[in-house]
Amino acid sequence: SAVTCGIDIGGTKIAGALVDAAGTILAESRVESPATDPEAIESAVATLVGELSKTHPVSGVGVGAAGYIDSDRSTVLFAPNIAWREEPLGADLAKRIGLPVVVENDANVAAWGEFRYGAGGDVDDQLMVTVGTGVGGGVIIDGRLLRGAFGVAAEIGHLCLVPEGRICGCGNRGCFEQYASGSALVRETREAAAASSLLARDLVERAGGDPAGITGPLITEAAREGDRFAIEQLQRLGHWLGHGIASLVAVLDPAVIVIGGGVSEAGDLLLDPIRETFERELTGRGFRPQAEIRRAQLGNRAGVIGAADLARV
Ligand code: BGC
Ligand code: NA
Ligand code: ZN
Repeated sequence: SAVTCGIDIGGTKIAGALVDAAGTILAESRVESPATDPEAIESAVATLVGELSKTHPVSGVGVGAAGYIDSDRSTVLFAPNIAWREEPLGADLAKRIGLPVVVENDANVAAWGEFRYGAGGDVDDQLMVTVGTGVGGGVIIDGRLLRGAFGVAAEIGHLCLVPEGRICGCGNRGCFEQYASGSALVRETREAAAASSLLARDLVERAGGDPAGITGPLITEAAREGDRFAIEQLQRLGHWLGHGIASLVAVLDPAVIVIGGGVSEAGDLLLDPIRETFERELTGRGFRPQAEIRRAQLGNRAGVIGAADLARV
């Protein structure tokens, strides 16, 4: 059938959807991600697929997973934020589900979804940056997904931006995602709120009176309603993203950079600071065509839609 199932396994959530060949979602569901337990992840995915496929016959399953996927598109070699080490995820899932399973990196499937059906639909060269638990990257060059010799290209979250900087889940220091992810936003905002309680008073109040209760969605909500402290937190995150993106664009020369992941819900409150730093730091600025920075059109559904499409081809 033309209907496939897309699954997106992130650091905090597992999302699933049935998607048709036009990229339309026919049914969807999501559960918390048991990120520290590979066995529990597999069983959660199998349950999701089982429930979803009750509504339509499904011909295959595409899985986006937040880790380094081998070029066999089945084995997770390593994941900084999930307990996968040499995990035969695709083979295990195919056994449990009884359908063909294709595994691909979570940011790669989101990039593919946006390229096929969303913000990159009008170009051949697109960089996607996902801002969530980590920072993910997906690169489309000449209409094709860049996978590299071993399947693990575009791990942009682990570019070293700060020598001897913050320790990362990957074991290195100073990685992009330690400064530019949703987790970094929340960590930095909690610290700033604890240190400057008068400026952060409104945000802390929203969080139930405790800086530790501050979450990404709360920061976005406060910023939308004009809270200066919250707006500044998104600005700082945006500047880090713009900084990293300027270097990536020097290498890749995309037509469009798509910003996705949970924090992209903040829209221009995040994208304008990204654009500002990007335009200030891009090499050759003023003398070269300028790539456009766009918000993901498929929102947090880019991953499931892209994964489902990969299960089709
Ligand atoms: C992982 C990537 C993943 C990204 C977004 C990073 O920490 O290394 O594989 O795509 O987070 O989830
Ligand atoms: Na990637
Ligand atoms: Zn790292």
